Amino acid sequence: MNIVVLYSSRFGQTLKIAHALQSQWQQASCKVDLFNIEQTPTLDWDAYDVIVIGASIRYGHYAKAVHRFIDTHTEILNQKPSYFYSVSILAAKAEKSTFATHPYTQKLFANCSWQPQHIAIFAGELAYRKYHIVDKYLMKLVMSFNKNVSSDVQEMEFTDWEKVKQLGELVVQP
Ligand SMILES: Cc1cc2nc3c(=O)[nH]c(=O)nc-3n(C[C@H](O)[C@H](O)[C@H](O)COP(=O)(O)O)c2cc1C
Repeated sequence: MNIVVLYSSRFGQTLKIAHALQSQWQQASCKVDLFNIEQTPTLDWDAYDVIVIGASIRYGHYAKAVHRFIDTHTEILNQKPSYFYSVSILAAKAEKSTFATHPYTQKLFANCSWQPQHIAIFAGELAYRKYHIVDKYLMKLVMSFNKNVSSDVQEMEFTDWEKVKQLGELVVQP
């Protein structure tokens, strides 16, 4: 099986998840290519059996390139088995960790006609050292409202790798 993953990642967590899936699928003898969706890759669609798009949230939105890519390629995305995964801090809350309860992803799919086989909602990472000073300040402010995370925390990976593995299994299951 040949799989292509198109990712939008600002601080690396969505890409880290893409690499974990790539390694899982390679162990299942799949060929896996990764492309940064923000570099508007031109793909040979015939070369792929499965298409996966992964994207993170920044200030309540997916990157414009994600919307653009989905809009431009809706037809091919609906013709092949395709999957979407979302990465955000909001999804660290159990009650916001499914497609039905994740407002950013609900909004994305309310405004496009792509119908993936499955939409996975993953929690991302908090890593203040990677952020610009303004982003750092705003994220600290946002996190101060989050009663589950202590204000002393500088870095924390919320991603549930078991959930990532489950997406991986779903994609390659016969
Ligand atoms: C500047 C900034 C803004 C963010 N805005 C949001 C947000 O509005 N909602 C949310 O759930 N997560 C938000 N996040 C959390 C990111 O989605 C999370 O850190 C994710 O792991 C980033 O993935 P990436 O490294 O692939 O870009 C924000 C993170 C940063 C640094």
